[in-house]
Amino acid sequence: MASKTLVTTTLAAFAFAAALTGCKGSEPSATTTDASGAPVKVADTIEAREANFKAIAKANKAAKEALEDSAPDFAAVSASATSIQTDAGKILGLFPKGSGKESGEKTEALPAIWEKPAEFTAAADKLATAAGKLKAAADAKDAAAAKLAMGEIGGACKGCHENFREKKQ
Ligand code: HEC
Repeated sequence: MASKTLVTTTLAAFAFAAALTGCKGSEPSATTTDASGAPVKVADTIEAREANFKAIAKANKAAKEALEDSAPDFAAVSASATSIQTDAGKILGLFPKGSGKESGEKTEALPAIWEKPAEFTAAADKLATAAGKLKAAADAKDAAAAKLAMGEIGGACKGCHENFREKKQ
């Protein structure tokens, strides 16, 4: 009896793995895996990555506004930079295979994300690196260097969106 249960469980595990990796035209409520490999709904993954980008955009705006001040609050800029860097590090884990349009869910993520993983990784790294520069500049209270880093951050957003995010109609 015990071995029969084991076989059934093993078969179920195989079927599940096949469903995760093999399906092409799956319907909404498709599942994928999160950063730790646990199964999650694609819709939840998309929601999580949108929230992550919103947080990145918010911190970016906060840093930009702080730097417009003649006596910038460098501690605030540094905190925003850390936030952007941390969230940039989460981007890759929020784009598991199967979480594109083929899932049937609404998303602006282009297939290029999964077709050119090295380029997508580099685009995410670019943002993290630029945020690191912003933090260093803010900690050194160097407004000029901070503004340069802001430009680099803006370029990282734009560069990735141009290649990997569907353009608005
Ligand atoms: C590595 C690639 C990459 C980088 C870097 C990146 N983005 Fe994005 N961004 C995307 C993709 C892909 C989407 C679409 C996600 C989706 O619809 O599933 C997106 C979506 C967004 C959204 C929409 C979120 C929503 O609610 O739908 C905002 C806002 C955004 N990005 C802002 C930014 C800002 C600001 C930066 C830079 C500070 C940035 N992004 C950097 C790839 C990137």
